[in-house]
Amino acid sequence: MRESNLSKNAKTFKIGLKEIYKLNHWVLPVVIFDALFKSIAPFINIYMSSKIIDELLGAKDIERLVLLVSITIGSNLIVHLISTGFGHLKNMLVDIALQNQRMKLNEKIINMDYEYVENPEIHNLRTKIWEANNMNGGGIRALIAYTWYLIKGLVTVITSIVLVIDLFKVDTLSSGHVSFINSAMFSYIFIALILVGTILSLKLRTTGQKKDFKCFSKVMDINRIFIFYANQIYDYNSGKGIRLYNQKRIYNNEIDNTYKNSKKVFTNVGNMNAKYFGFEAFITSFLGGMVYVFVGLKALAGAITIGDIVKYAGSINQFMAGSREVLSSINSIINNNQYLQLYIDFLNIKGGKYKGTLPVEKRDDDEYEIEFRNVSFKYPGTDIYALKNVSIKLNIGERLAIVGMNGSGKTTFIKLLCRLYDPNEGEILLNGINIKKYDYEEYTRLFSIVFQDFKLFSFSIGQNVAASVDYDENAVKDALEKVGLKERLDKMPEGIKTPLYKDFDENGVEISGGEAQKIALARSLYRDSPIIILDEPTAALDPISEFDIYSKFNEIVGTKTAFYISHRLSSCRFCDEIAVFNEGQIIQKGTHDELL
Ligand SMILES: Nc1ncnc2c1ncn2[C@@H]1O[C@H](COP(=O)(O)OP(=O)(O)O)[C@@H](O)[C@H]1O
Ligand SMILES: [Mg+2]
Repeated sequence: MRESNLSKNAKTFKIGLKEIYKLNHWVLPVVIFDALFKSIAPFINIYMSSKIIDELLGAKDIERLVLLVSITIGSNLIVHLISTGFGHLKNMLVDIALQNQRMKLNEKIINMDYEYVENPEIHNLRTKIWEANNMNGGGIRALIAYTWYLIKGLVTVITSIVLVIDLFKVDTLSSGHVSFINSAMFSYIFIALILVGTILSLKLRTTGQKKDFKCFSKVMDINRIFIFYANQIYDYNSGKGIRLYNQKRIYNNEIDNTYKNSKKVFTNVGNMNAKYFGFEAFITSFLGGMVYVFVGLKALAGAITIGDIVKYAGSINQFMAGSREVLSSINSIINNNQYLQLYIDFLNIKGGKYKGTLPVEKRDDDEYEIEFRNVSFKYPGTDIYALKNVSIKLNIGERLAIVGMNGSGKTTFIKLLCRLYDPNEGEILLNGINIKKYDYEEYTRLFSIVFQDFKLFSFSIGQNVAASVDYDENAVKDALEKVGLKERLDKMPEGIKTPLYKDFDENGVEISGGEAQKIALARSLYRDSPIIILDEPTAALDPISEFDIYSKFNEIVGTKTAFYISHRLSSCRFCDEIAVFNEGQIIQKGTHDELL
């Protein structure tokens, strides 16, 4: 059980290191060198001071003294310069690696199939990764830091053993009471004391850290709530609601609660730290004192010189500090693995969806034939059919209306049509061929959809319409004119370059809900796809306005195929064909007059 845990942790650690290497090739080499220099530095002084003291107490050769002091100062300077340089380089590379990590996560989300993006589990995973990273650097950042500690600790331990090993060689020449001090037994007792003390202090530290981690996950939950409410207050959209409905008290109350809860947790953390880390500090200082007693006795017994006291005592203390660093960094690495694992899991989410290669036939007449054949679909993680055995031939080139109550499956129907999801049963055909077989990008280019929850961004109007950084200005203007925004556009300070909203630019324009809808419609026109779908972007409007917009839009789209979705039959009366959805099934089909 413990074994398998250990090997699992080692595996995660290895994958983590590989991931760091992928994010930036130079981080790990620089971390290693930096740790190396930082751990060597104290030994230079320990070693050189012992030489200088012996020279002072012994031959007192001035020339040699000057040489020793110069070497000490010189080597300190060199090591300091190199390690400062490496330190800066390390920080810079870590920043680059973390930036790459953020981009990698974003890229992963953008390229992920839509069904994963909508999946709450995956959304949660992403939030946890983000939070772990922000709260305590959990994940990649922490792994880099702990790896640095681990290497520094290891080098410290090895160097101190090399320096101190002589001390434990038994001097057989001594006799009398001095012989005990120089005996192997005395050394063993001392080594045992050091080991027990170090392990005990480490045990205290790991227990303290474990409790710390537990508290931090509690704080993370509290923090999530706090961030949510704080963001709501700053978001000026919800700001309206907060004021109108006088929700201030609810918000303040929640924020107050989270504050009180976090204060409780932090007080606990403080008390615990005092207990565990205080006792640990006591043991460490006690051992530090014992080292001097041991080494001093050795010097008294004539086994070592006075200068050696500095060297050996310093090295043994470094050994203890180093082994604490090694063990606690291993412990931290194991703790951090749970966060690292989230990140690894996230990267391992497979793209999933089958993407075909068949080119989509380009037709000048825009006449495509689409057929749903016995299509059923449940959203991942649910047991209810959002669509049940839907069969319909879409008379492309005409106008189709999809009507049904809220939740009847209209949007789901569209999501399957444009391959945001694939059906669980049945198939969808384009010109007689399963849509999965078509090249995915080409297939999705057939559709231009305005969803109910369409979103405009705080970019320029032109970029919003084109949904891209670069765009054809005339086509954008043309699309905006068609949806009736020409006059509004003429009044804007920078025309189509005017930014929307004031998030990033104080010259940004605020637009009304109706204008936002028009921009969204213009976006669907600009895309110039053969099939345009309006999925109730106008649901918030009254029936007459919706009918108005739908029928005007219907004139604009010309020869294109257009699907109109509404929960109101009346909005679609201009359509050639109307399909009525109910509880995931098509219950009626016909013209407006037939259905009435
Ligand atoms: N992402 C989702 N996960 C789980 N269930 C969903 C999801 N989206 C929609 N549903 C459910 O599927 C059914 C059909 O929804 P939808 O197609 O959006 O209806 P409509 O567009 O007709 O209002 C509803 O019961 C809805 O709750
Ligand atoms: Mg809908």
